[in-house]
Amino acid sequence: MEGAAVPAAVPTAVPAAVPTGVPTGVPALATEPRFAQRLRQCLEAERLRDERFGLQPVPGGRVAVPVLPEKLSQLCVPPEVPWELVGIQEPVPCRAARRCSPARRLRDELRRLLGASWTAELERDVPHAWQRHGDLVLLSEDSFSAAPWQALGPALWETVASALGARRVARRGRVAADGMRSPRVTLLLGQHGWVEHVDNGIRYTFDVTKCMFSPGNISEKLRVASLPCAGEVLVDLYAGIGYFTLPFLVHAGAAFVHACEWNSHAVEALHRSLVLNGVRDRCRIHRGDSRQLQLRDVADRVNLGLIPSSEEGWPVACRVLKKDTGGVLHIHHNVEARPAPQSALLRAERGSPEAAGPAGEARRPAEHGGEQALRARLRPEWHRWAEATATRIQGLLAELHGRPWRCSVLHVEPVKSYAPHVHHLVLDLECRPVLPV
Ligand SMILES: C[S@@+](CC[C@H](N)C(=O)[O-])C[C@H]1O[C@@H](n2cnc3c(N)ncnc32)[C@H](O)[C@@H]1O
Repeated sequence: MEGAAVPAAVPTAVPAAVPTGVPTGVPALATEPRFAQRLRQCLEAERLRDERFGLQPVPGGRVAVPVLPEKLSQLCVPPEVPWELVGIQEPVPCRAARRCSPARRLRDELRRLLGASWTAELERDVPHAWQRHGDLVLLSEDSFSAAPWQALGPALWETVASALGARRVARRGRVAADGMRSPRVTLLLGQHGWVEHVDNGIRYTFDVTKCMFSPGNISEKLRVASLPCAGEVLVDLYAGIGYFTLPFLVHAGAAFVHACEWNSHAVEALHRSLVLNGVRDRCRIHRGDSRQLQLRDVADRVNLGLIPSSEEGWPVACRVLKKDTGGVLHIHHNVEARPAPQSALLRAERGSPEAAGPAGEARRPAEHGGEQALRARLRPEWHRWAEATATRIQGLLAELHGRPWRCSVLHVEPVKSYAPHVHHLVLDLECRPVLPV
């Protein structure tokens, strides 16, 4: 939006029309770099600038000046300064705030709030880490558990937000064991829990109080994004908020994805994220139990991103694969394995064939570097699980179509390890009908 042109007689700064749709994140006025300091001075003079945040570059080669959301209706901008109201998802704290660590700032501000009631117990209870989603700070479950905090009421959360340069505060509870990975997050300050998270150039939006974002999947999301899926039709049997559906569509070039999900909150988040990334027209969301999916003979690739096991989805995965050409399944599973013996490690370092992946393919470490990754790569249990799964799926496909199929292990990817010996793996399984000779 441009500042409205006004006759010379009126003051240089005029109330500006505020757009009705205020974007999410920290509101800011974006302008051309040559107007940035002028805009900052004007907003400061009118006490409209949000001084907790610094100026920062935004798309389009512009600079954004954060403004106080409660003052949006009072914006006064000189008519010759062009501006647009934008929402900053990752606001940069102002210079003064950056000088001391956020954890220390939090402790100092809380101590000031408590005054004489400050105790060593409270000091120990102040969190040192949290997750940040734009202007929302997500605290861990054990934060602020000491009783005296309760007496502070909303002032506590306002202080936490102000110390951490945020506007909203939420606290995590346990993930519910309801099959939908509902997060049990409580919003402590703010009106809603919708946030945006940018990952590998993809915008994911979701309500933190209703859906979970799994940062542990990052290596797999990157791997999926680099798979050659141009022109392919995919079925994602456990789409969640689109962790894999979106990279398949945005980066891997998939022509179309059928995304199945039974959690209505995740469905809503997936829908919004597909729109945000401009790929809504290439995805059909199947809301409900993926085991009841009515599709068949459509897919070149099926993603089964459910742990600890996606086994219940194997029959439907077989059914949706194209019956004449087959395709690739990405099967997630938690596999338990003992640590590899030292002798196996030495063989691997000398370059024995067993050092390669199950399909003879040398693999890069996924998440953990060096020796840990090397040790992890060699687990014979993984190999056994991959081969057993290939045999099972081959049997399911042969039974379904009444003719032989061949299933070959292309790759096994370790995604994440859970203590002590459980690994989240993804098996890439190529499944093809055996053609009559
Ligand atoms: C692990 S989560 C998120 C998916 C993502 N692949 C990941 O690994 O983070 C699995 C998702 O599958 C959904 N889900 C589980 N079983 C399902 C079923 N039978 N039908 C449809 N959705 C299901 C859950 O609601 C959840 O959103």
